[in-house]
Amino acid sequence: MNQKATTWRSPSNIALVKYWGKYEPQLPANASLSFTLSNSYTETTLTILEEEADQEFDFEIYLSGQKADDFKPKIEKFLARISAELDFLKGHKFRIDTHNSFPHSSGIASSASGMSALALCLLDLKPGAPAAMSEAFLQEASIWARLGSGSASRSVYPRLGLWGKLESESASSDEYAIPYQGPVHEVFEDYRDTILLVEKGQKAVSSTAGHGLMNGHPFAKNRFAQAHENMDKLKTILASGDLEAFGQLVEHEALTLHAMMMTSQPYFILMKPNTLKIIEEIWAFRKETGKPVHFTLDAGANVHLLYPAAIEQEALEFVKTKVSSYLKKGEYICDQVGNGPVKL
Ligand code: DP6
Repeated sequence: MNQKATTWRSPSNIALVKYWGKYEPQLPANASLSFTLSNSYTETTLTILEEEADQEFDFEIYLSGQKADDFKPKIEKFLARISAELDFLKGHKFRIDTHNSFPHSSGIASSASGMSALALCLLDLKPGAPAAMSEAFLQEASIWARLGSGSASRSVYPRLGLWGKLESESASSDEYAIPYQGPVHEVFEDYRDTILLVEKGQKAVSSTAGHGLMNGHPFAKNRFAQAHENMDKLKTILASGDLEAFGQLVEHEALTLHAMMMTSQPYFILMKPNTLKIIEEIWAFRKETGKPVHFTLDAGANVHLLYPAAIEQEALEFVKTKVSSYLKKGEYICDQVGNGPVKL
């Protein structure tokens, strides 16, 4: 083998139409579409060592220089899923060094950026893999990333990633995400996402467990049908740049996601009182000013504030004056639509 180490930076993403519900092997119950982010990313180095391995996958993982054994089970499961592709790793010890641009346990899901960064590293080192960043390379990386974490499949593409089969998108697939190919109004090219950190630390219920509760969920069938309808509506909105319709759709998606959690068996709530306080502030600000500031949520208490670049100053002023007292240590992360992964 000639290449023994590689480093990739891969971004997080925020879904506009949500993936919630899946079946084996990590295939989505409905299509989803996300903004790829820019400033929230994971950088991962994969190094294949000279030493011989004692087991099929013999590795250590370090997060920001500290051994992170608690990450091992999820990664072992991921490696086992793509084991047939990883003959080049077997027989050698290897090491994964990773760090996130966002603060530790900020409540930002690191699985999309983390699993996509690792998938990119693995594929890059695989002998005979397509050239890094080629279309075939990214498609394969998306398949691998999906097998690590569903939402990670979308992170390998710039701007907008679409994962899941949609009748209206012939290139789409449940197996991998594709770069969204429809017309996109310029307002979305640098759309802002200010991530308001309400809650830090481990979530009470993991996304993986939450997805599982969609099996046998009384509203699942309607939800999956609705998500597909929303995908088609979103395509029209992305083309037109109608921000009112955009905001209505993404806020409804976010609240529907959390409604699914609240109506699972067992039910659970990931929003916190301050999540609701912030949502009320956003609605009041919008009513008062007419500015297109909307929210979405992922599977947690944090609020993603979405708005066009043109109103950044007003939106950040709103965050500082009306929202920061609801945030853990007043913290938020300024992010925006980004260009996808890079090899470092
Ligand atoms: C609410 O991709 O984290 O963020 O596939 O089990 O790893 P696993 O789950 P994950 O679920 C993300 C759910 C979501 C919505 C979304 O990103 O589409």
